[in-house]
Amino acid sequence: MKHLLSICDVQHQILELLEIAHKFKMSTSFGKPLQGKTLAMIFEKPSTRTRISFEVGMNQLGGTGLYLATDDLQIGRGEPISDTAKTMSRYVDGIMIRARKHNNLIQLANNSSVPVINGLTDLEHPCQALADMQTVLEYKGDFKGKLLFAGDGNNVCNSLLLICSILGMDMTVACPPGYEPPLQIMEKAQLLADKSGAVIEITSDILSAVKGCDVIYTDVWVSMGKEAELKDRLKIFQPYQINEQIMGLAKKDAIFMHCLPAIRGQETTASVIDGPQSVVWDQAENRLHSQKAILYTLLK
Ligand code: CP
Ligand code: NVA
Repeated sequence: MKHLLSICDVQHQILELLEIAHKFKMSTSFGKPLQGKTLAMIFEKPSTRTRISFEVGMNQLGGTGLYLATDDLQIGRGEPISDTAKTMSRYVDGIMIRARKHNNLIQLANNSSVPVINGLTDLEHPCQALADMQTVLEYKGDFKGKLLFAGDGNNVCNSLLLICSILGMDMTVACPPGYEPPLQIMEKAQLLADKSGAVIEITSDILSAVKGCDVIYTDVWVSMGKEAELKDRLKIFQPYQINEQIMGLAKKDAIFMHCLPAIRGQETTASVIDGPQSVVWDQAENRLHSQKAILYTLLK
C-alpha cells in the first residue's frame, strides 16, 4: 500500500491492520517506531476525533503530527494542490488530508512522493471504517453478523459498505429514496461482496431492514458542507432516526454505533446513544489504535 485513499487500497491488509491495532490497544509502551518522522495533517473541514487521534498517535509512536488548516496555508489563497504536494513531499514523511472534495485528495496523492491518507472526503472515510470494524470484532467476535446503516448514503456509509463487502459481513443501507450511496460505490461493493459472500442491500424500509441486525449504525443527517440542505433533510430523514422503537426491532444483543459527532434528537435519541447498547466511546477510542496501525504500516 502506497496511499490510503479508499478502504479498498488496504483490502488485503485489513485483518493484519486490525491485529496491529489490537496489539497497540493492549500495549502501554510502543517503542519509537516512527522516531524522526513527521505527518502533515491538512484540514479543509473541522475535526475532533481524526485530528486528535492522528496527532496523539504520531506522538505515541515517537513521531510528530503537524496540524495545518487550509486557511493558514497558501492553498487557501489559491496555490495549486499539486504544488503543495510536491513541496510537502520534500519536508514530511506522510500527508493526511481531510478534503472537501475527493478529487482534492486524488490530486494530492498524484503529486506526492510520500504516502497520503484519506482523513475523510465527500466520498469515503476509510480510517473510520477500520476503527468501526475493530469495534465490531471486539463486541461480536467475528464479522458473521449483519450491520444496518440508517441515514445518508454518504462518506461513512460508503466506506462501511466497502469494508463489509471485503470482510464478508452482511450490510443493509436504509435510506430515503435519492440518498442512496453513489453507483460507483455500489458497483465496487457488489464486486467485492460476490467474492466474500457478503449480502449487500439498499432499501427505504427501515422497519423491515432492522429486524435480525447485530449492529445498528447511523451518521449525521447533515454532513459538513450540506448545511444549506438542513431544513429539507430534517424532514426527509425523520423516519430513519435510531430510537428505542427501532433498537427494539433489532437483535436483543445488537450494538449501536455512530462515527460522531452526533446530534441527539436528529439521527438518534439520547436514550439510545447514551443507553446500554451504545458502544460509541469504544468506537471513538479505537480511532486512536487503528490510526496507529495505519501510521505504523505506512510510515515505518
Ligand atoms: N468521526 C470523525 O471523523 O470525527 P471528527 O469529525 O471529529 O474527526
Ligand atoms: N458524514 C459526516 C461524517 C463526520 C465524521 C460528515 O461528512 O460530516
